[in-house]
Amino acid sequence: MMLKRTRVKELLAAGQTDAQVMVKGWVRTVRAGKGVTFLALNDGSCFAHLQVVADPDLANYAEISRLGTGAALAISGRLVESPASGQRYELQAAEITIVGPADESYPLQKKRHSFEYLRSIAHLRPRTNTFGAVFRVRSSLAQAIHRFFAERGFLYVQTPIITTNDCEGAGEMFRVTTLDMARPPLERGAVDYGKDFFGQAAGLTVSGQLEGELFATAFADIYTFGPTFRAENSNTPRHAAEFWMIEPEMAFADLMADAALAEEFFRYLCRHMLDHCREDLEFFNAQLDQGLIARIEGVAGSPFAMMEYGEAIRHLQQAPVPFDYPVEWGLDLQTEHERYLTEQVAKGPLFVVNYPRDIKAFYMRQNDDGRTVAAMDLLVPRVGEIIGGSQREERLDLLQQRMVDMGIDPTGLWWYLDSRRWGSCPHAGFGLGFERLIMYLTGMENIRDVIPFPRTPRHAEF
Ligand code: 4AD
Ligand code: MG
Repeated sequence: MMLKRTRVKELLAAGQTDAQVMVKGWVRTVRAGKGVTFLALNDGSCFAHLQVVADPDLANYAEISRLGTGAALAISGRLVESPASGQRYELQAAEITIVGPADESYPLQKKRHSFEYLRSIAHLRPRTNTFGAVFRVRSSLAQAIHRFFAERGFLYVQTPIITTNDCEGAGEMFRVTTLDMARPPLERGAVDYGKDFFGQAAGLTVSGQLEGELFATAFADIYTFGPTFRAENSNTPRHAAEFWMIEPEMAFADLMADAALAEEFFRYLCRHMLDHCREDLEFFNAQLDQGLIARIEGVAGSPFAMMEYGEAIRHLQQAPVPFDYPVEWGLDLQTEHERYLTEQVAKGPLFVVNYPRDIKAFYMRQNDDGRTVAAMDLLVPRVGEIIGGSQREERLDLLQQRMVDMGIDPTGLWWYLDSRRWGSCPHAGFGLGFERLIMYLTGMENIRDVIPFPRTPRHAEF
């Protein structure tokens, strides 16, 4: 009888000794000793490798003892208590089939590789300990995010990736076109996008928010979770040209309700990390950042701080440390400022609210002071801004005026304005950068190392 494949994770969790099992995976290390060979096998289901004991009475023992790192194997055998320290169980192999060999040219040999080198072999790095852990965590968090919103009755809406609106108005859209770039149709010297595929200039979305707002005025509570694109040419460890964003939007909600949801959401994800990603988390805590678990526990268990933008500026102006970028009411906060506020002032997650109107997007609700908007950013240690959100301007006249003042043509957004024409209501939402969340929860320091195949300026190879 052919045995069904058992995952290493399930095998180790069940700990059922003496049953005949079949495992399949990739060799991480081979130790050929006197009269026995030990293989460490990993199938990606968990961090731990399965120790496999190969005895010389195996028909292909000579081949097995010369196996290289990276080979794919199918092994049938018996799980037994391991007499050696280092692991509780080991697999006593009865038969080992070499499914796919790997020779010494395999780039992932035993020694430790730098993250930078591993980026150059992004097609193979999922087979390392660190990236195995990162991508298990990523998958698990994605599921937790859907569960969080499902438990609270939020509708999951898929907003378009190709769009004609620049939601954030920062002009960072990638163009989507089928025009012949060498000889585009011209109209008075400019490219005539009227002749393009969509009959107008189109691009990749920078945010699903505007379409999300439309759904919020039908389903009250909605969220999006999808890829987002920004052609900002900033080569930082926190920016990617393609990243994933979670954007909830709530009707009948103000800025404080928005912050309350953001806090509940963020703490839920911290709790999930502690409860469901423990083995990988312990690895990150031991190898990358010894304060990681304590920090996540702290966040999961205590309320977040909140301060006005104006107050944040005062803290920064009184800071005993120099900053590279100027600090002045009316200027945007840079990462160095955000990190100072969350790391030194709040010593934990911090909401900064009510930013100057002129540094924020057109859709944010204007406050009565005439110079700020109901915006909120959540700042966390080590990462800086992780969530950006706001209460939206639901008053048609004010929204239209704001667009005119900012040079945004309201005709292209007629459908957005319609949501303020009929049944308009106070509403609010935010965006959580998925990669920044993973950076925060794993201690990984570069966004390129938490997304499977990163897209950054001049990098889109794999
Ligand atoms: O602050 P942002 O630009 O907000 C929006 O896009 C709003 N439309 C969200 C909303 O209210 N629905 O982006 C939200 C978050 C940031 O806080 C950050 O975590 C992440 O998205 N982010 C990026 N992550 C990686 N690379 C980039 N280039 C990012 N730009 C933003
Ligand atoms: Mg922002």
